[in-house]
Amino acid sequence: MSKQKIAILGAGPSGLAQLRAFEAARRAGVQDLPEIVCYEKQSDIGGMWNYTWRTGLDKNGEPVHGSMYRYLWSNGPKECLEFADYSFDEHFGRAIPSYPPLCALLKDYIMGRIDKQAIFKYIRFECPVRWVTYDEGTEKFTVTVMNHKTGEQETNEFDHVVVATGHFSTPNMPYFEGVEQFPGRVLHAHDFRDALEFKDQNVLLIGASYSAEDIGSQCHKYGAKSVTISYRSNPIGFDWPEGMAERPLLAHFEGNIGYFTDGSSKQFDAIIMCTGYLFHFPFLPDELRLQTNNCLYPDNLYKGVFFQNNPKLIYLGMQDQYFTFNMFDAQAWYARDVMLGKIALPGVFERRQDMQQWLSRHEALASCNASIDFQASYIRDLNDATDYPEFAVEKQADLLKEWLLHKQENIMGFRENAYRSTVTGTMASKLPARWLDIKDDSLESFMSLDFVENKTFDKVD
Ligand SMILES: Cc1cc2nc3c(=O)[nH]c(=O)nc-3n(C[C@H](O)[C@H](O)[C@H](O)COP(=O)(O)OP(=O)(O)OC[C@H]3O[C@@H](n4cnc5c(N)ncnc54)[C@H](O)[C@@H]3O)c2cc1C
Ligand SMILES: NC(=O)c1ccc[n+]([C@@H]2O[C@H](COP(=O)([O-])OP(=O)(O)OC[C@H]3O[C@@H](n4cnc5c(N)ncnc54)[C@H](OP(=O)(O)O)[C@@H]3O)[C@@H](O)[C@H]2O)c1
Repeated sequence: MSKQKIAILGAGPSGLAQLRAFEAARRAGVQDLPEIVCYEKQSDIGGMWNYTWRTGLDKNGEPVHGSMYRYLWSNGPKECLEFADYSFDEHFGRAIPSYPPLCALLKDYIMGRIDKQAIFKYIRFECPVRWVTYDEGTEKFTVTVMNHKTGEQETNEFDHVVVATGHFSTPNMPYFEGVEQFPGRVLHAHDFRDALEFKDQNVLLIGASYSAEDIGSQCHKYGAKSVTISYRSNPIGFDWPEGMAERPLLAHFEGNIGYFTDGSSKQFDAIIMCTGYLFHFPFLPDELRLQTNNCLYPDNLYKGVFFQNNPKLIYLGMQDQYFTFNMFDAQAWYARDVMLGKIALPGVFERRQDMQQWLSRHEALASCNASIDFQASYIRDLNDATDYPEFAVEKQADLLKEWLLHKQENIMGFRENAYRSTVTGTMASKLPARWLDIKDDSLESFMSLDFVENKTFDKVD
């Protein structure tokens, strides 16, 4: 019998988790592993974490994937995204603070786990996937990619396709009357790169979730004159520092004046749409394409990963994310065991029943704490079925609940808190200064800081 062939689309954290899962099986002595090809649009691994200064199109004329920006720090405790099989202690050799800068420190950690020798041989860089089809007769997928290195399209057949192309890259860009006459910069969070661009400016952010909260805080930290956050459903509701405020939804613009639905108005120099992202799979036909919004349990994915119409098509990381890396691992290990035949998939009816139970629980979620517990129990359900190492996901859920309280207490200072690792038991050290005052986020600068234990700081106003 010929070897199974698996295509992994994307080499971000989710795609790398899938590669790592198979690599773990190989190291454990599993024989007859499938042949794997991972197609990646960019020229390096890391996905969203592969910071790029580019916006718009990349060097090959493909849409730029990256939405990360300079001075970005983790917005959740690192203890809640620690790999069970590769701890922060193992990587850094000492305790570091709970909220490190993202693109320097966290990326260094994620990449540290990757055995490049073992993994890179599977990855075909600069190969965006153009089209995927499934043949009911041969029971195979056909994947067509554009190989920018050779300048030619390539087509190959596979038994399974794992879609790991992320969902925080294609902007959801709403229209507001008069915006076309606005005289300043209008951009989406996807194209935001450097808060210093908005120094001394009155900045309007539309949206009331993580991007608005974080880009707003950054603009404040790096010297914006004022930051106004305009919400559609609910205000974020933190005790913002002077110079930052929330208003209800923008109604329209007249020149550089924004008018809000409560009748108030204000002059702005720049508008940043922090209005989230679209699930965008231009390489998938309707019958294979996941259609969802950003939520904790997208419908039609059994165990959150197997596409109901065709479970040989696997989606990783498609949920909204309290948990990230260890959730991707949980999914990848489970998907691996199904592809290896270690776990049998139930029939279409049983899969629908299982999904329905989760969807009912999902619908009843009434608080952030309940949502965190929901995602933790989803991860527990997956991990109980595989040999992924134990990492006390419920304790990590408790840390996330503390994180929410710390943000509520002090949105400009929550990153000065420290938490204990559920993997190693190590207590994180603390920043030696206020987050607001640490402006160089490079790896060298951050690691040369004199981290301290149990120091308290004056609260910022
Ligand atoms: C601004 C921002 C800040 C964030 N901060 C945090 C944080 O602090 N902590 C945290 O845990 N998470 C954070 N996240 C969430 C982050 O998206 C996840 O941590 C993680 O990157 C998701 O991994 P992924 O592999 O599923 O997707 P991605 O990281 O998006 O990777 C997808 C990969 O697929 C490739 N790809 C896309 N289309 C194609 C195609 N057609 N063909 C071939 N390859 C393709 C892309 O090039 C990319 O490499 C943040 C996200 C954003 C946008
Ligand atoms: N430092 C960090 O780590 C960091 C920083 C930024 C982002 N991120 C990550 O990036 C991901 C995406 O976050 P996100 O905030 O970009 O997206 P998001 O969580 O999906 O939120 C989108 C926001 O846009 C609003 N919105 C959508 N359409 C709108 C419209 N037409 N008019 C007004 N408002 C509209 C939504 O309002 P409703 O509530 O009304 O729907 C919601 O508040 C998250 O996983 C987050 O963790 C992390």
